[in-house]
Amino acid sequence: MSNTIILDHPLINHKISLLRDENTGTRDFRHIVEEIATIMSYEVFRDLPTELVGIKTPVAEAKVPVLSGRKPDIIPKLRAGLGMVNGLLNVMPSAKVGHIGLSRDEVTHEPHEYYVNMPKHIDERLVILPDPMLATGGSAIHAVDFIKKSGCKNIKFVCIIAAPEGLKALENAHPDIQIYVGALDKELNSNAYIVPGLGDAGDRIFGTL
Ligand code: PRP
Ligand code: URA
Repeated sequence: MSNTIILDHPLINHKISLLRDENTGTRDFRHIVEEIATIMSYEVFRDLPTELVGIKTPVAEAKVPVLSGRKPDIIPKLRAGLGMVNGLLNVMPSAKVGHIGLSRDEVTHEPHEYYVNMPKHIDERLVILPDPMLATGGSAIHAVDFIKKSGCKNIKFVCIIAAPEGLKALENAHPDIQIYVGALDKELNSNAYIVPGLGDAGDRIFGTL
């Protein structure tokens, strides 16, 4: 059974089209990545547990739903996943934020880990792992492997654009995680870039082109 949700939402599609445009500059690109993450968060957090508490409105007493249990952790894949963090924090401001630094080798396309810093007790929490791009799937698979080794059993991977190749690889490697995709693109090119894609997400977010 696939645990993948392709959002395919008009607002998200519109904003992804702006990201794709090579004329979109760093400032707008960064802002739009954050906006997309906020919009995607409504789906990502859809199944958070709630409990009923008693309150008094100006009109009547009522039992109303509030979030229950521990708040999710957010662990972006550095660098590019950082661009999505504030978008998620907009709706989950008390989330703790860890980091996993991975860089894809330009020739082999294999991910190299260069930094990790995890919040405490991630084994007891839902972990949201944002990374704008899912290309071969190597980076996402490595990041999920690491988070699972830290004891976490409840992981949601959130990307803005996925290639079919990477999505399949991640689903096969980690069939138990939930995957959220803004847009599913056509394919990878010979440099393992997503086509049509948006280029190098990290470089476009941080202006290091
Ligand atoms: C990009 C992107 C993904 C990865 C996707 O990161 O943010 O993590 O490539 O490719 P894959 O699915 O083939 O592994 P990159 O290595 O360019 O690092 P950056 O975030 O520092 O830009
Ligand atoms: N990483 C990116 O940032 N873009 C791609 O198209 C593939 C990997």
